[in-house]
Amino acid sequence: MDTEPLLVAALRGLPLERPPVWLMRQAGRYMPQYRELKERHSFLELCRRPELAVEVSLQPIDQLDVDAAIIFSDILIPLTSLGIEIEFNPGPHILNPLRDPRDFTKLGSASLGPAVGYVFDAVAGLRAELAGRPGKRKAVIGFAGAPWTLACYLTAQGPYKHFQATSIFAHEHPREMEQLLDRLTTLITDYLMGQVAAGADAVQLFDSWGGILDAADYRQFSLPYLERIISAVQDIGCPVILFVGNSSHLLAELGTTGATAISIDWRTSLSEAARQLGDRFILQGNLDPTQLFGSIPDVVDRTTTMLRQAPHGGRYIANLGHGILQTTPVENVEAFVRTVQNYRSLGKAES
Ligand code: CP3
Repeated sequence: MDTEPLLVAALRGLPLERPPVWLMRQAGRYMPQYRELKERHSFLELCRRPELAVEVSLQPIDQLDVDAAIIFSDILIPLTSLGIEIEFNPGPHILNPLRDPRDFTKLGSASLGPAVGYVFDAVAGLRAELAGRPGKRKAVIGFAGAPWTLACYLTAQGPYKHFQATSIFAHEHPREMEQLLDRLTTLITDYLMGQVAAGADAVQLFDSWGGILDAADYRQFSLPYLERIISAVQDIGCPVILFVGNSSHLLAELGTTGATAISIDWRTSLSEAARQLGDRFILQGNLDPTQLFGSIPDVVDRTTTMLRQAPHGGRYIANLGHGILQTTPVENVEAFVRTVQNYRSLGKAES
């Protein structure tokens, strides 16, 4: 039977015995099963063949027993439907970046087209696979990059490290930048709607590079676009988790988005984030991914410290503060997940 996944219950704000747990970038190179598949298939092949994308998405469920499977893909994949050519080696490389405001007008139509139908097929396949398993169903998380973060990759001048060129571009050509962000907003809204129609229980927006902007620029170049996407997706009944990298200075802005849940990085403690954001939001996060290194007792201690700072009795999803790192020992990830699963959040205020 298709019972309500724990993550979905948390996103509805229900009180739960323990928080749901999953990890950003949980399917990937730290896992031997993934590396083994990568010997036979390129990254893009894994993304484009739904049966392989489903297999990779399930690896962390089978290995770690996390509460949700995020669909295996990449934030840059939907850009291919605008005529952008991407290679992964293993990091992304855009072959035809936007170097000039006039390039923006050369982008293909903003409608999604059939170009990424394989992502929707993978979401549907993952949902069917999880629904067929015994026990409480695990959630399917769809995702997309935020318009600002996608614009960062599209306009980057060199290694994808600081994206100063994008900020310079935004200040030199604000109107053209806004046009680009508007197009990306339409694209990403359609893309997420497609994932929800295919069976995603929740979606996460990754604004990984939002934190390079100050609050005023964030209000101009990211927030309005996020708000459009979030309300469109919520209007069809799907909760939205918003992750903004390096966002300690942006919490007030994130508090205006209307997102169902806010995923915070480790630079702000969960208790401080709850104080600043109030109880309107469900919080997600926020262990520093480097804290999964070291001894297992240390990982258990750090995870417990994180859980003690989380909102009481629900309204919380345990996760990292950013994506898991490639060299993370799998047994330490298991210790993180197990510590959350053994934690009892109801009644902990008295303990
Ligand atoms: O498990 C999951 O979370 C699902 C898969 C997923 C990937 N990328 C697979 C991937 C997700 C959710 C992403 C999101 C993504 N991609 C983000 C947002 C999250 C974040 O970390 O801020 C960003 C910025 C990207 C862009 C990107 N793609 C980078 C920076 C890299 C290289 C560095 C890295 O971490 O590997 C990629 C390539 C990529 N995306 C890989 C994987 C598994 C490695 C490719 C390979 O295995 O060959």
